[in-house]
Amino acid sequence: MIPGSIEAFGPHLAHTSPGPLALEVAKAEGSYIYSRDGKAYLDLIAGLAVGNVGHRHPHVLQAIAKQCADYLHVIPYGEFVQKPQVDLANKLAALLPERLDSCYFVNSGTEAIEAALKLAKRYTGRHKLVACRGAYHGSTHGSLSISSNEQKKYHVRPLLPEVYFGNYNDPNCLDLIDEHTAAFVAETVQGDAGVRIPSASWLQAVEKRCREVGCMLILDEIQSGFGRTGRLFAFEHFGVVPDILVVAKSLGGGMPMGAFISSRHIMHSLSHDPILGHITTFGGHPVCCAAALAAIEVLEKEQLVAQCEAKGALLESLLEHPAIVEVRRIGLMMAVEFDSAERVRKIVQLCLQRGVITFYFLSCPDSFRIAPPLNISEEEIRASAKSILEAIEAAT
Ligand SMILES: Cc1ncc(COP(=O)(O)O)c(C=O)c1O
Repeated sequence: MIPGSIEAFGPHLAHTSPGPLALEVAKAEGSYIYSRDGKAYLDLIAGLAVGNVGHRHPHVLQAIAKQCADYLHVIPYGEFVQKPQVDLANKLAALLPERLDSCYFVNSGTEAIEAALKLAKRYTGRHKLVACRGAYHGSTHGSLSISSNEQKKYHVRPLLPEVYFGNYNDPNCLDLIDEHTAAFVAETVQGDAGVRIPSASWLQAVEKRCREVGCMLILDEIQSGFGRTGRLFAFEHFGVVPDILVVAKSLGGGMPMGAFISSRHIMHSLSHDPILGHITTFGGHPVCCAAALAAIEVLEKEQLVAQCEAKGALLESLLEHPAIVEVRRIGLMMAVEFDSAERVRKIVQLCLQRGVITFYFLSCPDSFRIAPPLNISEEEIRASAKSILEAIEAAT
């Protein structure tokens, strides 16, 4: 089937886009996805910032197989002691600053965001939320409420009340944070807005203001976490520590998983008055937790975080073309901007024809994204840059 044919989905699978890429997947391995007709595609978006260790990493597969041999789901979250959950929480706590020592595992990024908002409200006893223009935090009612793309929101209003938006990376947004604020929420690096990197001084001022008024600083690292930016956690670039850290996507090593992480003291608010402040049947699924721990071990063993910046810099240096308006990049999280959304759509299609998968941003259609597996090789970087330049040339 030619990529782009919506008929390949059949009549019964719901889809929400009139023009999906429609590549028929047969297999995925390392940096590649293979279509049913045997063509190899270099996956430069890693399943949308999921495959930081690449597709089907053997160490992750081994951990999944071992856990499958022991047990799958046994009970909703929090009742039985399941070693993969305990091991993963211990590992994350060891890697994070001391105040982020309590992990709650859920099924997705959106669910982790929802739960983080609840935690902030429960802990502070307040309702007001401050979020950022350009933000994307998910597609449910709560997460949409703090996301900024109005086109995705107006049909489903009313959303959460008392949500205020400030400009990302703008000191004026500090004025919105006051004694009534439960949480200030931001992506540490904005993803869907087209890779927007804040200044350390802005994030530090936000953190200071949050501490002054006693509100929670929630940082969403669903896209930017686990080495994507060249640090294990993106907040490490900016000299801040959130009260609640939200992660997902690459956390699971290819399995569906999210987490919100805070201090034991703050997290305690979900365990009393009433008890079971957040409930999930499948959250912390033992197979996903085993895969997540294995993915972190791969990051460490293959030193992928340390190599990330050099790989990103190499790819950026190879992408030289007069049609490129701007490249925004931190580590291997990159946006390439052009003069129009139309040109970007063409380039994405032309890249696909040349066996390279890129993708546009929902809220920044004049740019396309690059977020490859962190273990992409130099040879693969050079080959993908060559194909991208050919696609750009053909689209201009
Ligand atoms: C920054 C950010 N937050 C939240 C989400 C939602 O995560 P999920 O799709 O796992 O629910 C995404 C997904 O793209 C994201 O990029």
